[in-house]
Amino acid sequence: MGSLPLELFQPLDPDVFIKESHAVVDFIADYYRGIEQYPVRSQAEPGYLSKLLPDTPPIFSEPIDTILEDIKKDIIPGLTHWQSPNFYAYFQANASTAGFLGEMLCSGFNVVGFSWISSPAATELESIVMDWMAKMMKLPSMFLFSGGQGGGGVLHGSTCEAVVCTLAAARDKALTKIGHDSITKLVVYASDQTHFTVQKASKIIGIPPCNFRVIPTTAYSGYGLTADAVRSVMEEDISQEFTPLYLCATVGTTAIGAVDPLLELGQVAKEFGVWFHVDAAYAGSSAVCPEFRRYFDGVELADSISMNPHKWFLTNMDCCCLWLRSPTELVDSLSTNPETLRNKPSDAREVVDYKDWQIALSRRFRAMKLWLVIRRYGMAGLMEHIRSDVGLAKHFEKLPRFDDDDDDDGLKMNIRLLDAVNSSGRAFMTHAIIGGRFVIRFAIGTTLTEIRHVDATWRLIQGIAKGLLLADHS
Ligand SMILES: Cc1ncc(COP(=O)(O)O)c(C=O)c1O
Repeated sequence: MGSLPLELFQPLDPDVFIKESHAVVDFIADYYRGIEQYPVRSQAEPGYLSKLLPDTPPIFSEPIDTILEDIKKDIIPGLTHWQSPNFYAYFQANASTAGFLGEMLCSGFNVVGFSWISSPAATELESIVMDWMAKMMKLPSMFLFSGGQGGGGVLHGSTCEAVVCTLAAARDKALTKIGHDSITKLVVYASDQTHFTVQKASKIIGIPPCNFRVIPTTAYSGYGLTADAVRSVMEEDISQEFTPLYLCATVGTTAIGAVDPLLELGQVAKEFGVWFHVDAAYAGSSAVCPEFRRYFDGVELADSISMNPHKWFLTNMDCCCLWLRSPTELVDSLSTNPETLRNKPSDAREVVDYKDWQIALSRRFRAMKLWLVIRRYGMAGLMEHIRSDVGLAKHFEKLPRFDDDDDDDGLKMNIRLLDAVNSSGRAFMTHAIIGGRFVIRFAIGTTLTEIRHVDATWRLIQGIAKGLLLADHS
């Protein structure tokens, strides 16, 4: 066995960096050029990869070309192609050139801006970008650093983290008043359309699972949560000596994009003194267009708002914006001050130390990525991005003619149809159960989707449906 010539081991040599990163960029560009040749949903079987890769890691260095070949041969077949123009499943996870370049810069600098002093530009750019983003979405000035009312924002990796942190702040604020032993009395409220992340977060912060209220919605309210329903559940809880803690409203539910009425719900939240969080992970980006901003009316009553630029805002994973009316409450809950991290600006409380606004200590320079996206595309480009996707969705809406066929056969046929479309590899959609009915979702919004893809997928769906019906009747 040979020995490694350590003097040659230079993992950050700029010349090698140029050569190998160019090879990777070329590889990714080829991937995008040919993305439509792959089955949208991976057709791999569970465990496929362990049959292809060696059991043990290599002892010696391998060339980048060999590794890229293996990615093509072994990894790509196991990818579900979220950037395919024929991906209509779950939710959008927009990639873009600016998002990619921002991610590259974030990774290239690889700074860890947990406190201001550990990388001042990372912290300050994040605060500026959070204010920019809030201005683009026309959020009330109380959520901006520059609003002068104590508000501000932070970038997290996911909505789940944002919800955990805001729930922790709400919990600690409440328990300071009613005593720490009363945690079993705290209750969290959401609708049957709220993303499960809220239930998970409430469990993580120690709310007993039986104190998570899932309030039903109906077609009558467009599957939005009604203020009356929330009020009556809260009154019932109070009569049982529980303490309402946190209400989550959603702008754009994951399953069908339902919108909860923020104004009415915010008023109920104020009435009962509960923390009011607005989850706009999925549809929040639409607020940059004036014609969609109305869905945020009432947001001024929120204690916190979150949205994911990594969904529908051309920002490659991961990036979640969280704004707070009173970040001090979050910091009170999450801050620690170990001696090793002490420094003058932090001790003087002159600066933002984002380690106290999140769960982890370490953090990525995500602001660089969002800043690049906003600068490269500008407000005009970003509005165009949202509008063109909404236009495609409206176009699709006009195509199908639905039978209101709600029987068992209809349900089974829909399940078979979805399975057949996804197995064809030519499109990928997912389902939801809404009001007890099985619904096939057609979630338009990948960066590469054009009208021709929507039309072709509709023809595919029709063709497969006809084939299934004919097979049943032959
Ligand atoms: C409305 C809504 N909330 C929360 C989430 C979860 O987001 P994350 O994966 O960033 O935690 C999603 C993801 O689909 C969502 O659509």
